[in-house]
Amino acid sequence: MTVKAIGFVGTGAITEAMVRGLLAEPAYASEIHVSPRSAHIAATLVDEFAAVRIAKDNQDVVDHSDMVFLAIRPQVAEEVVQALSFRDGQMVVSLVAATERQALSEWIGADVHLVQAIPLPFVADRQGVTAIYPPDTAVAALFDMLGTAVQCQSRKEYDLLAAASAMMSTYFGIMEQVAVWLERCGLEKAKGQAYIAPLFASLAQKANSPGNEPFSALSREFATKGGLNEQVFSDFEKKGGLAALTAALDGVLARIEGRN
Ligand SMILES: NC(=O)c1ccc[n+]([C@@H]2O[C@H](COP(=O)([O-])OP(=O)(O)OC[C@H]3O[C@@H](n4cnc5c(N)ncnc54)[C@H](OP(=O)(O)O)[C@@H]3O)[C@@H](O)[C@H]2O)c1
Repeated sequence: MTVKAIGFVGTGAITEAMVRGLLAEPAYASEIHVSPRSAHIAATLVDEFAAVRIAKDNQDVVDHSDMVFLAIRPQVAEEVVQALSFRDGQMVVSLVAATERQALSEWIGADVHLVQAIPLPFVADRQGVTAIYPPDTAVAALFDMLGTAVQCQSRKEYDLLAAASAMMSTYFGIMEQVAVWLERCGLEKAKGQAYIAPLFASLAQKANSPGNEPFSALSREFATKGGLNEQVFSDFEKKGGLAALTAALDGVLARIEGRN
């Protein structure tokens, strides 16, 4: 256990996932302080874990924590963070999406050690990959315990991984589109879903297996010359599928970088 007291300002979905991961056995923190908003999540965590304490307010979280996570939505971040007093040298990890580091520093005011991170819900099962910026040994150790930490050397790298992390809904959206198509063609929806979920799970497992074959090699390996897989991928590309995906990523990167 390397961090004694951890705090969360904002007790929403990502805080719940992180607390579950941090306090799975063996626990990574001896105390976790959460803010009282989203009372139902805070109450569930307190019921389940003896190490969780519901703070009086956000300042109480900051005051009791060695490492403070900012886990509020971007829309309220300025108002919430500016109202807080941090200690010089305190470790602050911002999970707030699409928010400039410079702006965060100004709202925080004190000379804290500021790191940004993009945890994904899979941290709850200690299987989340988390981009962090700038590199930091203590924060990387924490996220390595919750899965895998990827330490970004530059703001650009971090923004690019943030853009890639926005693929989650599309991944499931593609699965849903196949299930809907199967249903339209006469297959019971539940049967389609029961087939597609393990198919995609096996493919993801293959991509993530030791040895890390390039995706391009996997795509070729799974496309027999003149076969069905090759036909679908080729049609998808010709009809603009890959161009649409690239444009969507360009768009989300522009938003992350504050260009639109
Ligand atoms: N979910 C993810 O997978 C994920 C991944 C990476 C980063 N993030 C980022 O993490 C942040 C939180 O995301 P989330 O998905 O956890 O959002 P969420 O479920 O909406 O949680 C946000 C929390 O902030 C609370 N809150 C609102 N105003 C507050 C205030 N003045 N003081 C204290 N707490 C306040 C909300 O309480 P009420 O419910 O009472 O309003 C809620 O508990 C966002 O910036 C998001 O971009 C999320």
